[in-house]
Amino acid sequence: MCSSSAAKGALFTSLIALHPVERVEEMSPSTAAIALVLAVILARQAFPAAAAGPRVIIVGAGMSGISAGKRLSDAGITDLLILEATDHVGGRMHKQNFGGINVEVGANWVEGVNGDKMNPIWPIVNSTLKLRNFRSDFDYLAQNVYKEDGGVYNENYVQKTIDQADNVEESGGKLSGTLQSSGSQDMSILAMQRLNDHQPNGPATPVDMVVDYFKYDYEFAEPPRVTSLQNTVPLPTFSNFGDDVYFVADQRGYESVVVREISYSGSGVTVKTEDNSVYKADYVMVSASLGVLQSDLIQFKPKLPQWKVLAIYQFDMAVYTKIFVKFPKKFWPEGKGREFFLYASSRRGYYGVWQKFEKQYPDANVLLVTVTDEESRRIEQQSDNQTKVEIVEVLRKMFPGKDVPDAADILVPRWWSNRFYRGTFSNWPIGVNRYEYDQLRAPVGRVYFTGEHTSEHYNGYVHGAYLSGIDSAEILINCAQKKMCKYQVQGKYD
Ligand SMILES: *[C@@H]1O[C@H](CO)[C@@H](O)[C@H](O)[C@H]1NC(C)=O
Ligand SMILES: *[C@@H]1O[C@H](CO)[C@@H](O)[C@H](O)[C@H]1NC(C)=O
Repeated sequence: MCSSSAAKGALFTSLIALHPVERVEEMSPSTAAIALVLAVILARQAFPAAAAGPRVIIVGAGMSGISAGKRLSDAGITDLLILEATDHVGGRMHKQNFGGINVEVGANWVEGVNGDKMNPIWPIVNSTLKLRNFRSDFDYLAQNVYKEDGGVYNENYVQKTIDQADNVEESGGKLSGTLQSSGSQDMSILAMQRLNDHQPNGPATPVDMVVDYFKYDYEFAEPPRVTSLQNTVPLPTFSNFGDDVYFVADQRGYESVVVREISYSGSGVTVKTEDNSVYKADYVMVSASLGVLQSDLIQFKPKLPQWKVLAIYQFDMAVYTKIFVKFPKKFWPEGKGREFFLYASSRRGYYGVWQKFEKQYPDANVLLVTVTDEESRRIEQQSDNQTKVEIVEVLRKMFPGKDVPDAADILVPRWWSNRFYRGTFSNWPIGVNRYEYDQLRAPVGRVYFTGEHTSEHYNGYVHGAYLSGIDSAEILINCAQKKMCKYQVQGKYD
């Protein structure tokens, strides 16, 4: 355990102790590093504060909550109370020990690096914290697609499929640019594929399906049928910040009072927690995940208005599951161009995308297989033993000539079942345009909203959470300090 991160943990605990947050207990000293850096900055600024100005309660100590806290504190709003339901800071940035190494069960990559603009998370990761990171190289996929019953496909054949999918995506990007900016002509990625006579979800080969899955589901955690073309192709994360993605593999980790009720009126807010503690403030900033807002965990009094409820339910909370499996020995091919490999099952999305860790975790004998959406929900509801059996069966099919031993251990994150998250990140579905998005972010009286799902261009990403915290804090600051409390939402197709 790194001592400097322990010091940061202690600082954050002190910040918490300044305020009556009884249930933010046992802040682990080794929690999510990035969140902690922000927390430290926040703590330094909050220490001298003698409770001047309005009091703001922030619900959730994930990236957006902490980022909002820092922005508020920069603006002189220093009477802050952060309520966190779990025993760690960082929300969906969360490391967990697995077979002797710390792996990330939540956010893992800095996505969008080496482009025209700087991804705000990148300097924090690569310079401030110097977290170990590795650029992910997807250039060799064509050599690494496994047949359902063993052996790899011919590279040229797979490459043709990839090229075709890339061309269709490029046409989709052009088409997307010609659509009404109001969103009135938006369509699903699947519809766009059909317009280009591309049938990866229809009567398609296993290779078509796994390439399609890799291109879309592996990024958005939902199939092309669901995902908005206009808001994801091209994706601002990559067009602004660059195409590269860096995998964070640092032992420090890339990284509550349970709030059950928020009452609000013209004069203030009251937050009640599961243990019946009551906190009063002038404003509340809710950074709970979209999945939590879609559940009944937090009761709002009065009920949120219908427009807000509709916006919350029209956006999608996706599920992306990173399953880590440990083996007593390696049986997979090693060397350059072998980091990522695909399993072309006839059942779309069935243990399709694999990663091994020659550089990141050299002697751990750990594989990562990613599943999403319905497969994630199915797997969360079965025993880990059952999942282990399925995974070993798939690997034995992929490597028929090899002695594939039983897995020694397995880690199956359950973000969807977890009542504090109810999924992993938001995905932008068709039918939603800027109108619903603005409504999702819009305050309701003194209740403000932040989180990756409210990020203007980067929903679903860590940098989206970070930037949304700043943006939502700005909206609150406008009201609290400049008395500009009206938040304008334009009509659906204006
Ligand atoms: C990350 O930091 C290292 C060490 O300072 C530097 O050499 C490298 O170029 C940085 N990477 C990127 C992509 O900026
Ligand atoms: C999983 O399987 C192992 C051995 O195969 C067994 O020892 C263990 O009890 C099983 N766990 C559960 C929860 O069924």
